[in-house]
Amino acid sequence: MAHKKILVTSALPYANGHIHLGHIAGAYLPADIYVRYQRLRGRKVLYVGGSDEYGVPITLTALKEGITPKEVIDRYHNANAEAFQRLGISYDIYGRTSWDLHTDTTQSFFKNLYNKKFIFEHEMELWYSTKTNRFLPDRYVKGQCPRCGYEDANGDECEKCGAQYTAKELVNPRTNIPGDTSTPILKTSLHWFLDLPQFKEQLLQWIETHPEWRSNVRGIALSWINDLRPRCITRDTDWGVPIPLDHPEAKNKRIYVWFDAPIGYVSNTRQWGIDKYNDPNAWEDWWENDDTRLIHFIGKDNIPFHAVIFPAMLMGQDNFILADNVVGNEYLNIFNRRTGKSEKGSKSKGNMIRVSWAIDKLGTNPIRYYICSIMPENKDSDFDWDEFRNHYNGELCDIVGNFIHRTLTMVMKNFDGKIPQPGSMDEIDNAMLEAIASIKESVAESIEAFRFRLAQEHWVDLARKANVYFDSKQPWTTRKTDIERTGTTLYICAQVVKALAILMNPFIPDGSANLCSIINQEIKQQGPEGGDDIWEDIGELLPVGFSLNEPRVLFPKLEPEFIEQLAEEHEKGLAS
Ligand code: MF3
Ligand code: ZN
Repeated sequence: MAHKKILVTSALPYANGHIHLGHIAGAYLPADIYVRYQRLRGRKVLYVGGSDEYGVPITLTALKEGITPKEVIDRYHNANAEAFQRLGISYDIYGRTSWDLHTDTTQSFFKNLYNKKFIFEHEMELWYSTKTNRFLPDRYVKGQCPRCGYEDANGDECEKCGAQYTAKELVNPRTNIPGDTSTPILKTSLHWFLDLPQFKEQLLQWIETHPEWRSNVRGIALSWINDLRPRCITRDTDWGVPIPLDHPEAKNKRIYVWFDAPIGYVSNTRQWGIDKYNDPNAWEDWWENDDTRLIHFIGKDNIPFHAVIFPAMLMGQDNFILADNVVGNEYLNIFNRRTGKSEKGSKSKGNMIRVSWAIDKLGTNPIRYYICSIMPENKDSDFDWDEFRNHYNGELCDIVGNFIHRTLTMVMKNFDGKIPQPGSMDEIDNAMLEAIASIKESVAESIEAFRFRLAQEHWVDLARKANVYFDSKQPWTTRKTDIERTGTTLYICAQVVKALAILMNPFIPDGSANLCSIINQEIKQQGPEGGDDIWEDIGELLPVGFSLNEPRVLFPKLEPEFIEQLAEEHEKGLAS
């Protein structure tokens, strides 16, 4: 069966702060493992990401720091693009929603929906500051939640209890603009609404065709669909995509960020096609092609947008495909060693771990390995330094690294660095060789099912089994008594090493590349045009006499004192 093309997206992070490990665990590492695996299989896969650069959080940051929104987004776009690149998150394009092409794409989506009467106008009462003469959208106004009484609730939703309400329900409103102590008043303003209820049947039908989705995603999508309401998709602000209507009330308003942001996936694909092929229509072959599987990787707070609202926006266009899967992860929390409790990552607490900080201290392998091993696929999980030490030192170094190293040093010392000639094989030898093939299948199946933790456990398990094999065959003893037996053992171990080099590639590409350079293998880089099934080479044996290079330690152990020191810096807020 020919494989469909695969279009993968990761949520566009706001260009309003630094990327941290919580983000990585949610929407980026799983997507990257998935696309790297698909590239190894030679499938046509395109990985699209970018910065989300509009919205109130960005203008508020600008206001608070006394700089322009453009300065805010430039700073964080550049910093985050670099952090992703250093961690090996292998986007085909990392775009920006401030690009003109994005404005054009968003406006075309809006006009299409408007012409088909999926968008309507409606007057609303909104909070307004008489001191600064402006409306107070979203987080510009704070107050008490009408449901739970939380003091720091936003204009139309409460972060504490999740309630959504109309602005005028907010109790004791106050402005969130520095220096503005005036009391907000209610004022009418004309806005545009996406008429979601018109898509109800179509959404339900679509979800029904996907029983394989994770239950959290299905559950949230279905509860939204059963209570669909029109959603306001414009705001009183000047920071956003202009409303493409010739209407006096549209001039001082912009399209709401949650309308334009997911369209960024489309506009960045358009830009990719122009950059790569100079072809302004190349994107259609991905977005308007039934032979494409679209897969969104996101954190759980983004589920309604990717499983309900954006799909409705796509249905309201002409030929767009819909997502084949929405892979929503739960949250990565932080384990606080002082209190012994797990806590949410928060900017104000300063307990988050910035990606660039983590890479400076640790390099990529320990981070990617540990984050994958605790990925919050079905429930929240904790970042915990003790557990980090156990997983990295105890598994990647002691099991995987150690097996590779003992094999390669023995081949070097006893067989001149060349793959030895095997003698006759017994059952144990054959079982070890067969384990390579079966684990290759297990890893592949787990990745295809978006179970990345399990996939990683499988290849680590191959190394674990290989250590047991190595111990039982005792090549360090047999080398004095039976060199042919030693050759057989190391022949098989070397094949496992080679398999591991490819198996680990999607997870820890740097570790894989270093191992490949030692064993003289090259993993061809393949892209959106597809290529060979390199994954199948896992089972292909290194020939007798093939030369290896001098081994070196791939995964150096981290001293417990060093990890302690990092934990302390983290505790002091220096990692965020
Ligand atoms: N910026 C949003 C967030 O960080 C995610 C946007 S995802 C997109 O939560 F689909 F809208 F792009
Ligand atoms: Zn509340």
